[in-house]
Amino acid sequence: MKSFIRNIPKAELHIHIEGTLEPELMLKIAKRNGVSLRFSAVDDVRKAYTFSNLPSFLSVYYEATSILLREQDFYDVTRAYLEKAHAQNVRHTEMFFDPQSHTERGVPFETVISGIHRAQADARQQLGVTSKLILCFLRHLSVDSAMEALKEAIPFKHWIVGVGLDSTEAGYPPEKFIRVFEKSLAEGFLTVAHAGEEGPAEYIWQALKQLMVSRVDHGVRCTEDAHLVQTLKARQTPLTVCPLSNVKLRVFDDIAGSNLKQLLDLGLCVTVNSDDPAYFGGYVMENLLAVQSALNLSYGDVCRLARNSFNASFLSEEEKQALRNELDVFCSNNVPDSIRSSNL
Ligand code: HPA
Ligand code: ZN
Repeated sequence: MKSFIRNIPKAELHIHIEGTLEPELMLKIAKRNGVSLRFSAVDDVRKAYTFSNLPSFLSVYYEATSILLREQDFYDVTRAYLEKAHAQNVRHTEMFFDPQSHTERGVPFETVISGIHRAQADARQQLGVTSKLILCFLRHLSVDSAMEALKEAIPFKHWIVGVGLDSTEAGYPPEKFIRVFEKSLAEGFLTVAHAGEEGPAEYIWQALKQLMVSRVDHGVRCTEDAHLVQTLKARQTPLTVCPLSNVKLRVFDDIAGSNLKQLLDLGLCVTVNSDDPAYFGGYVMENLLAVQSALNLSYGDVCRLARNSFNASFLSEEEKQALRNELDVFCSNNVPDSIRSSNL
């Protein structure tokens, strides 16, 4: 099962580029830029990674992000993630970035997106990994600040598939950002939003009805509202679930307490993702391994999760079909015969 999970073709749809900054690269870039951090060794950094909730994580995350200054820094962090993803047979990834956390510090939008984009182009050409970029607005900042970020993104529209909403959720309802999302949709961006991670099911409703999202990021608290579950199922609105993140940020006590299997069995279009892998103890493969063993997922469940990841992506129908075909070949060659007849 371990090699099956490593090698199955998959997409990742919930990953923050800034959350892929591993301590080794963080210290290297900080030194290169002459930035002092309160950490001097990799072990010290890792020791700081104990969180009690989303805000306690975000303060460490924004502090670490502040070492990113130059185009090359954004290239290096994106490139390192894409190489990791490639090693786990991620065939396609849709990555978030938080421009406001950089422009607020005086780093130009163009510097950020140019470094990321160059790494995406290289990874596509050299590794065969395709990727898309989603601009996330920071919900703890003002609507005006989000509007400013959107304006800065417009000249780079062709490099950005959509916009999302992240950062502290509780107390920052999606509806606050209606105007920004309306303008984003009018500019041709697709929309997604983090909702129902720490916030209530009501925030998921707002994301669907008011921000017109194509996917819900996290969304695990949807099970608190049966009508919402029915709606998500009927529309097959994808949920990008991040199991290790949910445990690290205390949404669930442990992986066994995750409702991923319940969501899958309810017929929702659920996917497994890593969120901020440098902080939460694993990339997409480690997330899949963790849920497979704690929730006793079958080969069929794992194939379903991989299929959902392609269906939920923003690829064209032709691109999705090509990846589903690749997945079908993989599954028919790699699911043990004894299991295929009984379990798939
Ligand atoms: N939730 C909200 N905002 C974030 C996260 C998350 O898990 N990761 C990075 N920004
Ligand atoms: Zn996230």
